Amino acid sequence: NKARIRQEIIKINTEAARFFYGSLNGKEGEKARQYLKNRSISGHIIRKFGIGYSPEDWSMLYKHLSAAGFDEGIIAESGLVLTNKKGGFYDRFRGRIMFPIFDIRGNIIGFGGRVIDSSMPKYMNSPETKVYNKSKNLYALNMAKNSGEKQLIVVEGYMDVISLHQNGIINTVASLGTALTESQGRLLKKYAEEIIIAYDADMAGQAATLRGLDLLNDIGCNVKVLQVPEGKDPDEYIRKNGEEGFRDLLKGSVSLIEYKLKLLKKQTATTATDEIEGKIVFLNKAAELMAKVDNLVEREMYVKKFSSEYDISPEALNSEVYKRLRPKG
Ligand code: UTP
Ligand code: MN
Ligand code: MN
Ligand code: MN
Ligand code: MN
Repeated sequence: NKARIRQEIIKINTEAARFFYGSLNGKEGEKARQYLKNRSISGHIIRKFGIGYSPEDWSMLYKHLSAAGFDEGIIAESGLVLTNKKGGFYDRFRGRIMFPIFDIRGNIIGFGGRVIDSSMPKYMNSPETKVYNKSKNLYALNMAKNSGEKQLIVVEGYMDVISLHQNGIINTVASLGTALTESQGRLLKKYAEEIIIAYDADMAGQAATLRGLDLLNDIGCNVKVLQVPEGKDPDEYIRKNGEEGFRDLLKGSVSLIEYKLKLLKKQTATTATDEIEGKIVFLNKAAELMAKVDNLVEREMYVKKFSSEYDISPEALNSEVYKRLRPKG
């Protein structure tokens, strides 16, 4: 029975996606079509991702699903409708660009909806249902897993994925929101030899990058960070700089330790009151980070780099690193 309800919710979602797609391409979808055009989203990618539009009406989808013969209890369980005080149903998503969310097999398990103006909230998402578990799913993994690449790139949002796929970077998935979960980490590990975190260049993105790095590293993933220059996200960047520009960023991806050392350098540069003090603080903390690098060749490279950059002997820095080595085993 539970399996039957799951199947039925997926059917409802599939019908809803068809409805949203039709509405994007109908008269009511004109503003939405214009919005997507302004963001350079092609017709091809709209079809590929099944992008649609939810009309501004309060119950058009509900009426449509109901007329199609679906049980109202299961329609409610799909999360596509909400109940009002009188026990009637109304549509959750109204006047939004609709992004179907797929599971690994390509079943539609939920939706994200974006406003086409500056109203809030910018995105609304399906609630958790019998088929949609946010923390266990990665947006577009159903497509990205067939890219033939060893790497998977993780971005924050729908538009980042869509824009990257449109520009030929098809090994991209989104965590949808910024907090990568352990289940998502395990999924990534299952499908890729190397994970590249490419979150937004803002405070939230940076914090999430650090958490994601540690999480992935802890479960044994090979992980790197792609840094999008100031203030941008992958979508904006690739729209301006094209596939080639993005591939250059990808080539410049840095390892966990490099990323942390870079951040540390920035932090000490802005907080230190005098130069000597700043160097000492940086080098001590850097020694701590370097002590975590198990690969001796890699560790020695950092020791060389920073000892010369900070004008101290590699021996001195090395012995600080040695003091901080964690006991083996
Ligand atoms: P962002 O705020 O970075 O949006 O949120 P975005 O993806 O760049 O979207 P555009 O370019 O403005 O259209 C990143 C992701 O976080 C989730 C969405 O999955 C979004 O894609 N999010 C964001 C929400 O769920 N709700 C929100 O209100 C905002
Ligand atoms: Mn984004
Ligand atoms: Mn963001
Ligand atoms: Mn963003
Ligand atoms: Mn964006």
